[in-house]
Amino acid sequence: MYHFSVIDKYMLTAHQAIRVMRVLVVDPHQDSRDALVAKLQAERYEKVYVASTGEEAVRVLSAGLAKREPIDLILLSLSLPDRPGLETLDEVHNVFDVALVLLAGREERHLAVEGLGHGADDYVLRPVNAEMFLLKAEKLLTKRFLHKELRRSTARNETLFLNVLAVMAKVLEAKDPFTRFHSQKVSTLASAIAREMGFQDDEVRRIGIAGILHDIGKMGIRESILQKPGPLDKTERETVERHAIIASTILEPIEQLQGAVGYIKHHHERFDGGGYPERLAGEQIPLGARITHVAEAFDAMVAKRSYNVPKTPEEALAELRRCSGTQFDPQVVSAAAVVLRRNGLLASRPEQPAKSLPDLIEDLTDQVSL
Ligand SMILES: [Fe+2]
Repeated sequence: MYHFSVIDKYMLTAHQAIRVMRVLVVDPHQDSRDALVAKLQAERYEKVYVASTGEEAVRVLSAGLAKREPIDLILLSLSLPDRPGLETLDEVHNVFDVALVLLAGREERHLAVEGLGHGADDYVLRPVNAEMFLLKAEKLLTKRFLHKELRRSTARNETLFLNVLAVMAKVLEAKDPFTRFHSQKVSTLASAIAREMGFQDDEVRRIGIAGILHDIGKMGIRESILQKPGPLDKTERETVERHAIIASTILEPIEQLQGAVGYIKHHHERFDGGGYPERLAGEQIPLGARITHVAEAFDAMVAKRSYNVPKTPEEALAELRRCSGTQFDPQVVSAAAVVLRRNGLLASRPEQPAKSLPDLIEDLTDQVSL
């Protein structure tokens, strides 16, 4: 007895999926158009559309988009009465995401070949060999189906990955109750500063992630040190300072975090070179790390910790300014001041319920400014 393998099942799914994809046949010659449509329907293609002019073709494509039922493949004649040659091809290719097969007379072969350079995927010559066209259509639609599947599974993996990060951040917060909401606030402030400084979505997102995970290395440090009331001695301080290196060691193997790891590793470097772990100075420190440093310092100053009296947001901002150029990058301090002022000083807000990291990341990439 024959058992379906996973690949068999997948190919079966692909076979079924492409039969419900939308095919548009644009051909001014009624006979060949009807013959192609009949052939497609005989092969159980369920959604076949027709057009005989370029204008009609664009109308069908636009209507599909408007209904969120886009055409997947178009067979496009090069001898349309209203827009001959490559004119329609250029318009379709520039505006619509569709697989494209050109239909050319023997004498138009050179034009069809030229069309491949204009975004066409393939061509067929008249008189059309319907079997050949079907094979080409099936190949292109299968490729399209697989691309869509790949996009879908990448999005699923991404969500899974972000959830894992959220759990890591929560574990850290559980370890030190005084840091509750700290990572979330640092992330929010750091990404707002990044936006203020003109970074694009991807970079804002990386900085937001660095904010969430910047202290993840503290997972490797004893609670008795993390929660010690009062100042730390030299050995204890050195132990705590190791959290930046521990974090980069934990996170470095994760491919999706490559951009953020450097920001996490260097979020305690000082602008004047007196920080850790590598005593980098000025522009040597990744900008994302300089931003995370300012955001973290602000939140630490205003937070209620076991061993210090919290500063008011105004006092904390004054402290950022006082240390601008020594501990902090002046450019980042200026941007932070704008964000904090505009937002009525972030930390003075009542505490928000914790969000999941995926939600937070979504906020980061959606918001234009805080
Ligand atoms: Fe830190």
